[in-house]
Amino acid sequence: MKAVIPAAGMGTRFLPATKAIPKEMLPVGNKPVIQYVVEEALAAESDEVVVVNSREKLAIEKHFAPDTELVATLRAKGKDALASAVEHAGSLPVSFVYQDEPLGLGHAVHCAAEKTADDRFYVLLGDVIVPNNNMLPRMKEVSDSHGGANVIAVLPLPDEEVPRYGIIAGTEVESGVWKIDSIVEKPALEEAPSHLGVFGRYLLSPRVMEILATLPPGAGNEIQLTDALDAVLAEEEMYALVIEPSDGYDTGTVESWFATNAAIMQG
Ligand code: G1P
Repeated sequence: MKAVIPAAGMGTRFLPATKAIPKEMLPVGNKPVIQYVVEEALAAESDEVVVVNSREKLAIEKHFAPDTELVATLRAKGKDALASAVEHAGSLPVSFVYQDEPLGLGHAVHCAAEKTADDRFYVLLGDVIVPNNNMLPRMKEVSDSHGGANVIAVLPLPDEEVPRYGIIAGTEVESGVWKIDSIVEKPALEEAPSHLGVFGRYLLSPRVMEILATLPPGAGNEIQLTDALDAVLAEEEMYALVIEPSDGYDTGTVESWFATNAAIMQG
């Protein structure tokens, strides 16, 4: 199974810090955020991680490329732990495709269509990290137990956060698992069908890729992944795994990025 990580966004929330450095390269502890996300995908037995990059953000590619000179220099100085860490980052099976226009998250995911072929695939948004790597395996269990159905992770949200997320409607079918009826992107609180927000981890069927290929722009004039999920519900089942706030760390705003760093450094 492939994993897709959309990473072509401009990182506007972190400007000017992200003027020259991609937001995915901001550190959490001693690793860039995107390395956590790649490692999470690999821990879930993805055979390849496909990063959807923009052509401006070459630092991401440099990070995952081998650097034998740097490794040799570190080893010659006896800095073996650092050499191994550099070697590890350069050895991860990451490939790149490009999103040349900022047409939305759904469009970004579809840029990886040729890589995912006819198989189910994971999508991991880089705004959140799941250091214990256990969320995708739990989602795969739910999918497998429902004949390979689509599964997304959702988080119970306080009122004020509801309008910032994709929100599901559905019914709880077993403890912590909902069967989804519909899903709406960033509704006003009064119109939200629940307080369960799409967290940023998806296990999707090949049909979602097909739908994305012809999907018209939605909210914000962007091709929305949420719209493709809502559309696929007419044909396929989708389940939501309800997670807890402590299951993941948000790195998507300056404040939450600092809080994540503090939490990770305290170990
Ligand atoms: C995206 C998705 C949204 C999801 C959110 C999670 O929105 O469109 O459905 O709830 O990620 O972080 P964004 O935060 O990119 O605006």
